[in-house]
Amino acid sequence: MTTKTNRILSGITPSGNSLHIGNYFGAVKPQIELQNDSSKETFYFVADLHALTTVHDQKTLEKNILGVVLDYLSLGLDPEKCVFFRQSQVPAHTQLAIVLANYISFGQMQRMHAFKDKLQKDIGVESINMGLFNYPILMAADILLYKPFGIPVGEDQRQHIELTRDIAENFNRTYQQEEFPLPEPLISKQVGKIVGTDGQRKMSKSLGNTIGIFEDEAVIRKQIMSCFTDPNRKKATDPGKVDGNPIFIYHDLINDNQDEVTDLKSRYQAGQVGDVEVKEKLFLAHQRMFEAARKRRLALANDLELVTKILAMGADKAGQVANATLTEVYKIIGVKN
Ligand code: ADP
Ligand code: TRP
Repeated sequence: MTTKTNRILSGITPSGNSLHIGNYFGAVKPQIELQNDSSKETFYFVADLHALTTVHDQKTLEKNILGVVLDYLSLGLDPEKCVFFRQSQVPAHTQLAIVLANYISFGQMQRMHAFKDKLQKDIGVESINMGLFNYPILMAADILLYKPFGIPVGEDQRQHIELTRDIAENFNRTYQQEEFPLPEPLISKQVGKIVGTDGQRKMSKSLGNTIGIFEDEAVIRKQIMSCFTDPNRKKATDPGKVDGNPIFIYHDLINDNQDEVTDLKSRYQAGQVGDVEVKEKLFLAHQRMFEAARKRRLALANDLELVTKILAMGADKAGQVANATLTEVYKIIGVKN
């Protein structure tokens, strides 16, 4: 087994055209930190084929893919330090997925959350495409091709990584080989599940409870201004709760001015500050934190040739690693080409 104890891999599905702060703090920021750790070797990719479970319009898909690529590059992804590519440009992902489907049971696939949730919402298997059902198998292939040690993602991806481990174990056991090392989920307790602006559920683009990063300032301002706070506080002079209050969770993450956050929290608890001031200050902190990334994104959007080159270079490097694993797997199962 060629375990790569320093190898890190993660992917992101371009199911929307821009990332939100939940994605950023839960996934992108930890990924960039690992990229900047010179003892690690990082592979990050845009899982464009995964987006087909929901996006069936060519123009929208293209826009989403480009959007997420630009987001990542502007937020600090450095193609000199990590291998950055598009899933569809490395055909070994789909090739391995077909093989891996044979080492997991239908019953286990039926227990996957994404499938079960969809089944509950849409009532009936007729409305669920097989891409969604198979999604975790393609994700297992995405991971196992690179034999990584760790997968930095948010909490909602944990079950997928557990399934990947099960598939790897089944495969290894079947052939009495240690082909696939078992990948570890790298999920932060603090930021692995950031609450949405509704104060109830995880921030998620499909729930409309997000705060964006690259949207127009007016949009971000509105998202922040409509954020849920302490529901028991009727007026600014009522003492408010800070713990678990989404607006203060965001302040802790975004606001670089610690003294300001401490002051706002103590005034909030004492009933000496209104929600509007707390939100205004969060909006200003958001501007400070993402201003440079927003500028970089504008510049990059005007240099799409460079973006294409970066992805081609990434696909080339990723393809070498992925094809080597696929060749080993074909040999183990008795298929040679
Ligand atoms: P969304 O739920 O908005 O569709 P994705 O499923 O595209 O987000 O998630 C992309 C990455 O961001 C994944 O690694 C996921 O675990 C992480 N992520 C998504 N939402 C959150 C959140 N609210 N808190 C922390 N991480 C998150
Ligand atoms: N399922 C992940 C998401 O929705 C994206 C993804 C696809 C992924 N393949 C992966 C993440 C492999 C980590 C490793 O964001």
